[in-house]
Amino acid sequence: MSVANAFMTQEEILAKLKEVWQDEFGGDYRVFFAPGRVNMIGEHTDYNGGHVFPCALSFGTYAFAKKRDDGKIRLASLNIRDGEVFESSLDDLVFHEDAGWTNYPKGVIWAFEETGRKLPSGVDILYFGNIPAGSGLSSSASLEVLTGLILKNLFGLEDVSQADLALLGQKAENQFVGMNCGIMDQFASAMGQKDHAIYLDTNTLKYETAPLVLKDAKIVITNSEVKHQLASSEYNTRRAECEKAVEEISRKKPIKTLGELTPGAFEQVKDVLSDNILVRRARHAVTENARTLDAYSALKEGNIEKFGELMNASHDSLENDYEVSCPEVDFLVHEARKIPGVIGSRITGGGFGGCTVSIVKNDAIKTFMEVLSKKYKEAYGLDAEFYIAEPGEGAHEIAMETTV
Ligand code: GLA
Repeated sequence: MSVANAFMTQEEILAKLKEVWQDEFGGDYRVFFAPGRVNMIGEHTDYNGGHVFPCALSFGTYAFAKKRDDGKIRLASLNIRDGEVFESSLDDLVFHEDAGWTNYPKGVIWAFEETGRKLPSGVDILYFGNIPAGSGLSSSASLEVLTGLILKNLFGLEDVSQADLALLGQKAENQFVGMNCGIMDQFASAMGQKDHAIYLDTNTLKYETAPLVLKDAKIVITNSEVKHQLASSEYNTRRAECEKAVEEISRKKPIKTLGELTPGAFEQVKDVLSDNILVRRARHAVTENARTLDAYSALKEGNIEKFGELMNASHDSLENDYEVSCPEVDFLVHEARKIPGVIGSRITGGGFGGCTVSIVKNDAIKTFMEVLSKKYKEAYGLDAEFYIAEPGEGAHEIAMETTV
């Protein structure tokens, strides 16, 4: 099996891991899990000093792992190339193009060493997950956080907190892999809480959690099946545009991040920006942060309708000002909103494909899936996939009988 899907259960995944572990690695192992995430609102705000509101999912990446006696690092994933084993070593913690996905876990080992946590020996890790690849539900962040957790637990690195796992994962992605992502995905994967979303101030890393189990509605994720290919290069461009906007605005009003501006304050300084693209990018970052604050308040007051309106406005801003959507995803969002019982719908994650997140009344979910898959197939010839989000626990070790 080379492709997992969100419908594979934990039991099935662990059984498959056990079978392959015995063939390829052998010996005792420990079992770990780190989830993917879905972001409810607060998109492209996390590298702008703003707020985000993601939750960890019940699906994610699992791993069997053990310490080695030598300096080798042996990594395999049942999601990629049928579990082909990549071998490298602690003496070779550098990015290699042809090392593909293993650059992520290697980057985490590198980040541990960079922060003074030199590993006494290498590791064997076998991964298998049920996050659909390229769906924008953070399979890479879950891989990073999971690897960090494995290192922490196997080597008894007690000083590493769950939040540190997020920071070390982000460091690996920024400085080893070269994707300038913010902290949201790794934070959600490390810090997730069952049935809760995390309201995080990315400037201070202070956070609160809020219950996300809705009375008569559910959070439905729709996978457009468009893989977010452009994500990395365009993402870094957006980030650079926001940094340029900060620099130009600072000539009039000193700021460190766009997250410091309210929409009103932005209106007063925006004429200093040298071109209209910068105005639109900055306007998104500023208004999205304001929407996230409002959405959090609305949820606490139980005002789901208001939350849904803010999700819709978030999408419109991502589509028009920030330009990180694509026609297929826009279609899914706009068609979803026409269906009675849909409270809000937007693109989620980095963009350029991937998934939408919608709040749908329980009695409308069946129609939602039927109507949307039919129209989407007619328009684009693609089969949308649907997942009901169940906010889950952050990264943790799974206790198992592991002597083989
Ligand atoms: C990706 C990044 C996150 C965040 C989102 C957009 O998922 O990894 O840090 O910026 O895009 O909100």
